Amino acid sequence: MPTHTAEAARRRTFAIISHPDAGKTTLTEKFLLFGGAIRQAGSVKSRKSAKHATSDWMTLEKERGISVTSSVMQFPYDGRIVNLLDTPGHADFSEDTYRVLTAVDSALMVIDCAKGVEERTIKLMEVCRLRDTPIMTFINKLDREGKSPVELLDEVERVLDIPCAPITWPIGMGSRLKGVIHLMTGEVHLFETGKNFTRQDSTIFPSIEDPALVKRVGAQLLDEVREELALVQGASHPFDRELYLAGLQTPVFFGSAVNNFGVQLLLDFFVTHAPAPKPRDASLRKVSPEEPAFSGFVFKIQANMDPLHRDRVAFLRVCSGSYQHGIKALHVRTGKEMRLGDALTFMASERELAEHAYPGDVIGIHNHGTIAIADTFTVGDPLQFTGIPSFAPELFRRIRLRDPLRLKHLQKGLTQLSEEGATQFFRPLLSNDLILGAIGTLQFEVVAYRLKDEYGVEASFEPVQIHTARWIQAESDSDLEEFREKAATHLALDASGALVYLAPSRVNLQMAQERAPKICFTATREHS
Ligand code: G4P
Repeated sequence: MPTHTAEAARRRTFAIISHPDAGKTTLTEKFLLFGGAIRQAGSVKSRKSAKHATSDWMTLEKERGISVTSSVMQFPYDGRIVNLLDTPGHADFSEDTYRVLTAVDSALMVIDCAKGVEERTIKLMEVCRLRDTPIMTFINKLDREGKSPVELLDEVERVLDIPCAPITWPIGMGSRLKGVIHLMTGEVHLFETGKNFTRQDSTIFPSIEDPALVKRVGAQLLDEVREELALVQGASHPFDRELYLAGLQTPVFFGSAVNNFGVQLLLDFFVTHAPAPKPRDASLRKVSPEEPAFSGFVFKIQANMDPLHRDRVAFLRVCSGSYQHGIKALHVRTGKEMRLGDALTFMASERELAEHAYPGDVIGIHNHGTIAIADTFTVGDPLQFTGIPSFAPELFRRIRLRDPLRLKHLQKGLTQLSEEGATQFFRPLLSNDLILGAIGTLQFEVVAYRLKDEYGVEASFEPVQIHTARWIQAESDSDLEEFREKAATHLALDASGALVYLAPSRVNLQMAQERAPKICFTATREHS
């Protein structure tokens, strides 16, 4: 088997989706401990609060104490190579998160057992569904009182509309937490405070019927669990890998990330069953990871990871072949060949120079603004990967420039920031306004800060009467031309030159749609 095919088969590339505070950071840290990537608990946590030390570029971010950046962590586990793509937690940066989800092969959903399914998880799940991404579920914080396990499964099934296949089942909860049963092996793993719960460190009983277990757990609790299990096994679904891989069933684990309990059972199952890189859609055809020619697409651009060098790092997901240090690849959008010289890999978030990378891996390419979100690089056919979305912004501002002579700088800055996906900007057909669109208000602050810091442009934002944006398409050019004339006052071009309808109100949008039945109004757009 060629090296890149064997290497691809052992890759597991995923992201964690959760509502803030469910325990994503804590769980990430435990994974890294198991992967030998960090030695001490607390390292990820402290990075979270002092993140500016490694990757953050903005004082704004420090002031806010939130993370607007996402990173990639690679670690080996059990013969596999796991790539964990972090997603920014703050809701204002959801667009970034959505794009990270286009670069993974599966997702892990973390749910707080006391809170159940929360709003952001619902949104992220919708995004996963667009690509039928397989999802595993970890129900966290079992050391606290929460909803009953049956209730939690029911909530996931009802709210997220995905059948659950419990793989572990808790024995007690909160102060009564005694352990979990692995429903596929029958083993009981005890929860004992002060332990680290690695395979070596856990007390494991072969079955719930083991007589010695009564002493440890208590007859009453065991009876309760037996009853619960009889109920659950009748009502829930056995694990079916095909359904899981099709995004039609989620295996569910219970545990406590902060206590490292139930985490290794999850990780063992994850590396065994989660999918390796699959073929990806591109213009013309699908691209298989087994193809020898290197190819990949950019799903994220992060500016100023190193403030001294003002660099931008484009995060590229490798889709086929292999990357070797110094490789030259075609940058399909510009038609130019680029030497991807000093790409970075992200071994447990240390930035290192990559010698090799294989399908499923992410490399970071330095550039000065030539690379945009959704760009494809390849040494094979000049194809373009598809399926990387832009979402219609929900908030709009008009930009006012303090010094009109800086207009060129402003335009350059806005073009680059929208290529990075940091914001979207629109130029109305009939005015000289520059309109900025965002998903969350914090994005405007980021843009204002970066315009000043990087482009020397002082700009302020003022409210503008725009409710929403829709990209415009029509089957025939003449229909489009007619609409363009009729609706010109509400039309604008986005940074890539695509036509957009800026609706002042919901009613206006509805009327425009009714009056122009041959025109297609879309709320998402694929980068092309
Ligand atoms: P996030 O990345 O999803 O936002 O969540 P994070 O891991 O930061 O966890 C949010 C809070 O929940 C943290 O507490 C963390 O310690 C706690 N937590 C995570 N897993 C568990 C668990 O299994 N049980 C319990 N009881 N708590 C858990 P914090 O007070 O915000 O931070 P810290 O001071 O504890 O670090």
